[in-house]
Amino acid sequence: MSKQTDASISVGTESNSRPCGGCDKVAVKNRYADCGQESCKAFHRLPQSPFLSPSSALYRHQRSAASRCTSTLSCKDDRSYYITTPIFYVNASPHLGHLYSAVIADCLHRYKLLQGFNSKFGTGTDEHGLKIQQAAEAAGKDPLNFCTDVSERFKHLFNSCNISYTDYIRTTEQRHHQAVKHFWSVLWNKGLIYKGSYEGWYSTQDESFLTSLQVGDALDSSGKEIKVSLESGHKVEWMKEENYMFRLSAFRSQLLDWLRGNPRAIQPELFSQIVQQVLQEDLADLSVSRQRSRLQWGIPVPGDAEQTIYVWLDALVNYLTVAGYPDKHDQWWNVAHHIVGKDILKFHAIYWPAFLLGAGLPLPQTIYVHSHWTSGGKKMSKSVGNVVDPVECSQKFTIDGIRYFLLRQCIPESDSDYTDDKVRKLLNAELADTLGGLLNRCTAPALNPAQVYPAFCPQSFPYEQGGRAVVEDYHMLDSVKNLPAVVEQHYESMHVYKALEAIIACVRKTNGFVQRHAPWKLDRRDSEDQRWLDTILHVSFECLRIYGTLLQPIVPGISNILLSRLGVQPGERSLADVNFLPRHQGMDCPFEGRALGSDSGVLFTRLENPNLDKQSPKKTKKADKLK
Ligand code: MSP
Repeated sequence: MSKQTDASISVGTESNSRPCGGCDKVAVKNRYADCGQESCKAFHRLPQSPFLSPSSALYRHQRSAASRCTSTLSCKDDRSYYITTPIFYVNASPHLGHLYSAVIADCLHRYKLLQGFNSKFGTGTDEHGLKIQQAAEAAGKDPLNFCTDVSERFKHLFNSCNISYTDYIRTTEQRHHQAVKHFWSVLWNKGLIYKGSYEGWYSTQDESFLTSLQVGDALDSSGKEIKVSLESGHKVEWMKEENYMFRLSAFRSQLLDWLRGNPRAIQPELFSQIVQQVLQEDLADLSVSRQRSRLQWGIPVPGDAEQTIYVWLDALVNYLTVAGYPDKHDQWWNVAHHIVGKDILKFHAIYWPAFLLGAGLPLPQTIYVHSHWTSGGKKMSKSVGNVVDPVECSQKFTIDGIRYFLLRQCIPESDSDYTDDKVRKLLNAELADTLGGLLNRCTAPALNPAQVYPAFCPQSFPYEQGGRAVVEDYHMLDSVKNLPAVVEQHYESMHVYKALEAIIACVRKTNGFVQRHAPWKLDRRDSEDQRWLDTILHVSFECLRIYGTLLQPIVPGISNILLSRLGVQPGERSLADVNFLPRHQGMDCPFEGRALGSDSGVLFTRLENPNLDKQSPKKTKKADKLK
């Protein structure tokens, strides 16, 4: 501990750093290697992030390996992927916004598995800190029991919503305590943590330190004047105490270099711009501990039982713990991707990379940022009292229904307002009518009495335009053929809504194709008509097979029903299997002639509006009649 005391200096609320005139670094007041300039005390020992220049080479290598891969088995082991959600505070039950973060991560994890990656997916709960300590006190519970109770609620929600995490971490676990203490010691040994005194604003609700510029005036519910965070609206308090400081100020230019050199490190780009803007200004050093007398519920600072490690440093290290830190984390840590809401961008895009640079570890490959779900125009939160219960939603709209809605409706760059009515309208239009209608039409026994994957007739639908196919049919084939690449591109940039937009546009085109040729009007006693009818169905089945395959990360249940109905086996559902309509190019189709799977009912049942008692009965569609 003596080492820590040696390094003690006192700092104020603002940065104790100043730019060095002789080099590009930021000078800090302590024992560092200097740059050779007489006056410079800038820190030059920091390891270079592997992402600074050769950086994205790894990413590009993986991308090209991914596109070369033709077999999920052959390339599985040499490609790893690691995706995380933020870990969730356990001060209150989960709401729809939390589920949204988890559904995005689950979607990307499932998508990587489909690509043949060996994917790890971490989620869990953030259980330390003042906010949780106070919530447990208010509930009159022992903190650990309190945390276990709420953590189980998150876990239960995720299990019930098919969030296929591979590791569920709780920050109260021993393995995590060890990782945090180790991480702290690494930063300490590199001289990046020193004893100081912090004075400034603190928001317990956000567990965040704020500068005067980030704070404004407001009235609380009793009309009393208070100070609040301008960003979150949460109450802030002035605090002054002795604690440990991290030399965040020393990392500003490295962080900027990282973001400038890796424009895809923070996505969507808008958020990278925001962070770069913040980094134009000096960074203050960061308080990374609290006095134990104020905060008992947390991990003690190694060697100083009077101090507790700041909850954000503790929480961020969870990503390393799951990766196997400190013993064997390389396989996963080199390929880490984080999903975060925009409210926690500062912690992930500034503090976290600075900690990692300090500890000599690679930076995350991507930080995917999403915006918020609002309800009644305000961000969902327990304190506002406008939260939407995800369990209730999944009961009302089904699990796949709510997953589809969340991913289809929310645009990462902007907030979306939630209403039940929007969910009903979207799901009825896209899942029930468009996708369900297409499957229903094409598998109807009236059109396909043998219940097989019908034969394709090249004379009816030749490779070059002709036969009975028309120009729109060839355009439709082109769109479906390109769809996997289009979807891949959108998944990679976390624009899942665009992937869904593209898929549903193709489903509509296929419906148009069926409608145009009205197979129910063909005369099955005429052999040419029969061949054309089978060809229409074969093409539609092939389209459905592609849609079912690409939709697996979003609606795993519905995709399974769809693919099983088409007779596509579990081992034939990866992205390497898509190979759309091989018969059109004169190749064999492994599905042709195969028996269809059993009919397990409608793909997605239309949702009624409970507020409309006497809804006029919807006209039965022709396709339903055919069944
Ligand atoms: N515990 C921290 C994260 C630590 S990660 C090292 C935390 N927890 S949280 O429970 O408040 O938020 C977890 C995630 O839920 C964040 O990504 C946050 O953006 C997201 N959401 C919380 N409310 C939300 C909405 N209303 N809408 C969308 N996502 C929202 O922050």
